[in-house]
Amino acid sequence: MKVLACYSMKGGVGKTATAVNVAWMAANAGMKTLLIDLDPQGASSYYFKVKPAKKDWSERFFKAYEHLLEHIKHSEFDGLDVIPAHLGFRQFDVLLDALGKRKSRLDNILKGLKDEYELVILDCPPTIGNLAESIFNASDYILAPVIPTTLSERTFDQLNAFFEEHDYPKQKLVPFFSMVQAQKALHRHTMETLRARSDRFLYSAIPFTSDIEKMGEHQTPVMLFAPNGKGAKAFATLWVELQPLLREFED
Ligand SMILES: Nc1ncnc2c1ncn2[C@@H]1O[C@H](COP(=O)(O)OP(=O)(O)O)[C@@H](O)[C@H]1O
Ligand SMILES: [Mg+2]
Repeated sequence: MKVLACYSMKGGVGKTATAVNVAWMAANAGMKTLLIDLDPQGASSYYFKVKPAKKDWSERFFKAYEHLLEHIKHSEFDGLDVIPAHLGFRQFDVLLDALGKRKSRLDNILKGLKDEYELVILDCPPTIGNLAESIFNASDYILAPVIPTTLSERTFDQLNAFFEEHDYPKQKLVPFFSMVQAQKALHRHTMETLRARSDRFLYSAIPFTSDIEKMGEHQTPVMLFAPNGKGAKAFATLWVELQPLLREFED
């Protein structure tokens, strides 16, 4: 089982769009996939039409994987399950502090799912606290969307610095450009600079396109309502590029 986090400490960069489309493509390719929506805003749960639990169970989330099992919902797609977010998940940073072993908790919990799923995708909230550290430990790869603008470049540098300072393996970081507007000189220039500074950026980039924006309206992955659009094609290319990562270190 591989764990793939869609993560950035910045909001509105395309984490959820990536989590939803990659989860669908994985399931469509025959991988038994679980999407865990860790963001209390619950956007990926919404895209998959999965409702949050009535009762706040956030205090039980990190205690045993059996609690996760109770909250797994089937999506309308074969091989794709979802654990929807609850607003209570906003307390995860504080809860992890109180529970102790905050860095290894998520990793330990997810191990309980390894016979059920081939791929777990974490749709992460924009945070760099205890939850983020728990995510860095639990994930095989951290897919990090980077909008090619000055502030996003800075956020990416901060993430690299954080990994260095806290001894997280940098090879887990898989950055890619998101919401790219190639007609903008700033975007082109920032992509060039960042690619020259870091060879870890994926070749694939996701363009800024109204198809992807319309996912909210359709409440479904982009390839189901605009299969020939730029968004669907870009995510399909990203998916192909992720294949070797998902095959590496086979259990
Ligand atoms: N490539 C894209 N092109 C256009 N709009 C996008 C793209 N990716 C995401 N969006 C839109 O931008 C907003 C933020 O995207 P989202 O994936 O929710 O970001 P995050 O999860 O990082 O906060 C959403 O309204 C989404 O529909
Ligand atoms: Mg999101």
